[in-house]
Amino acid sequence: MFEKVEEYKAMIQSAEAKAAEELEQFRMKFISKKSVVTELFNDFRNVPNEQKKAFGQALNELKDLAQEKFQALADGLSDQSGSTADIGLDMTLPNVPNETGSIHPLTITTNKIIEIFERMGFNVANGPEIEEDFYNFTALNFPENHPAREMQDTFFIEKDPDKVLRTHTSNVQIRLMEGQKPPFRSIMPGRVFRNEAISARAHCFFHQVEGLYVNKNVGFKDLKETVYHFVKQLFGENTKIRFRPSYFPFTEPSAEIDISCFICNGKGCNVCKYTNWVEIGGCGMVDPNVLKNCGIDPEEYTGFAFGMGIERITMLKYQINDLRLFSENDVRFLNQFKGTF
Ligand code: PHE
Repeated sequence: MFEKVEEYKAMIQSAEAKAAEELEQFRMKFISKKSVVTELFNDFRNVPNEQKKAFGQALNELKDLAQEKFQALADGLSDQSGSTADIGLDMTLPNVPNETGSIHPLTITTNKIIEIFERMGFNVANGPEIEEDFYNFTALNFPENHPAREMQDTFFIEKDPDKVLRTHTSNVQIRLMEGQKPPFRSIMPGRVFRNEAISARAHCFFHQVEGLYVNKNVGFKDLKETVYHFVKQLFGENTKIRFRPSYFPFTEPSAEIDISCFICNGKGCNVCKYTNWVEIGGCGMVDPNVLKNCGIDPEEYTGFAFGMGIERITMLKYQINDLRLFSENDVRFLNQFKGTF
């Protein structure tokens, strides 16, 4: 046994490697799982007890020696000129290209919306997602007993009953106007939360973009022109727009915004439910009470506001039929937006 150790030691010491194959042969013989050194380790149990200690030591030294020699041989090989080819590396091969990522479809839509409104002189405002009841409801003229405040819609913060996860981005309206002087011309994109069962058409969180314009002599005609311009820029010149009377506590009068279904172009499909109209958001003239709550004189100033669902717009624009796709991070979905900005 001990002779074998000595014999291998000598072989290792005198080993040379002029090419990658020789280095590999060395590795197979002295380092790999099938090496002679491993074999000796396996024979360990046959060594008489009184020799076990000395033999174990000799074996460990042999193993270290093999490792050191292998490293030295490998270093020697890569030091030689032209050695990259010897060890199987072709430095002239073209690089493996980096995979580029893609921008999330909701970000693509949000950026487009911002771009269109910035050209009309709107800037971007942000606000908190965890919000006080006052900004999410009270200042927006929600009556104390309005159903939207109730459990089925709103996530309340358990430890602080005065705080909610905002149910719309309208909270930013109040934060923007509070204690400031008009004019205001901002859009407010962001995430909102509602306590709804998750399905292809509803989720417990989604994104909205809200718009607000407050100045002297702002009328419903300004709201309509702004929405017309926006929709045509985003969906195309031929898109038709319709305003349907509606109700929001914070606007008066209020309307729902529908656009003509460009998926079927009037032929009827299940996206527009064979009506040829699809809803993209709500809007209206800012209720005088909201202005008053922010310290603005409604006799002097008027304004309009609108709010739209970013998921809804993205689903229409890219013909996506399931809301859940936006938050599941499935690369098969996300990869389809490569190169789209
Ligand atoms: N905040 C409303 C919603 O979440 C949308 C809206 C915004 C309506 C502004 C009118 C004016 O549904």
